[in-house]
Amino acid sequence: MNRLAGKVALVTGASDGLGLEVARAFVAEGAAVAFVARSADKLRAITDALVAGGGRALPVACDVGVSAQVEAAVAATVAAFGRLDVLVNNAAVAIPGDITDQSDEDWNRLLNINLLSVFRGIKFALPHMLAQGSGSVINMASLQGDRAWDHWTTYAAAKGAMKAMTRQLAGQYGPRGVRFNCISPGAMDTPMNQERRKREGDAFYEANKRLHALGRMGRADEVNGAAIFLASDESSFVTGADLLVDGGLSVLPRG
Ligand SMILES: NC(=O)c1ccc[n+]([C@@H]2O[C@H](COP(=O)([O-])OP(=O)(O)OC[C@H]3O[C@@H](n4cnc5c(N)ncnc54)[C@H](O)[C@@H]3O)[C@@H](O)[C@H]2O)c1
Repeated sequence: MNRLAGKVALVTGASDGLGLEVARAFVAEGAAVAFVARSADKLRAITDALVAGGGRALPVACDVGVSAQVEAAVAATVAAFGRLDVLVNNAAVAIPGDITDQSDEDWNRLLNINLLSVFRGIKFALPHMLAQGSGSVINMASLQGDRAWDHWTTYAAAKGAMKAMTRQLAGQYGPRGVRFNCISPGAMDTPMNQERRKREGDAFYEANKRLHALGRMGRADEVNGAAIFLASDESSFVTGADLLVDGGLSVLPRG
């Protein structure tokens, strides 16, 4: 409790899955948190319950694919809470596709949501962090940025670029007190994968169990510890890192 007391965070993709769990965990640790996603009604139901319980939570409807909306979300967060200490770039979509079938539009659509959203979040949040002389940016990456899975080239390209951006910005802005890190989850049981299960059947979940050293997929709340660590001053000497929260997916040979 209170590992994030006094901090203000903005979490994108906070209406479902990992983003929702991380944003809720940040509130439980004493942070004031802007919950950012597209559905205002869904967000309001989540944040109303947290506020009723004494938490500090703000619903911010925003499509991270639209620059002006991301700019407005950052401005709304700072207007409500007075500063911005932590940015979690988490929102993303999972759209597979074989490279020989894909169009420019397919690539632009995914890169806009999964990669340019990260650029936008940082572009608008960083000036506040630089003015404060401190900040922590956490980019939700994936092992797919490092390893091959058939038909996921676009998604992997976005995650790989996110990792490169993270290292680049960690180097550039470290001297000014802003830290940049990634979290790379393994396969987690979130709506993103529940959708895949609907499309691909139970075999997808069974295969994933075998691929993880821990013999199972991750729960949606199992990145919370890593996110709290990277958001808090406990990670004050950690920047440019890619923290694997992957149940050992990276250490087993691909089955
Ligand atoms: N689930 C996994 O196995 C897994 C593994 C590795 C990495 N990741 C990454 O973790 C992050 C979260 O994944 P998840 O499984 O929780 O996904 P999810 O689909 O369950 O939730 C994604 C969230 O992002 C929001 N979102 C999507 N498009 C948006 C947009 N244009 N504007 C604003 N919000 C938008 C959704 O509304 C939702 O709140 C993603 O970056 C994903 O790539 C997930």
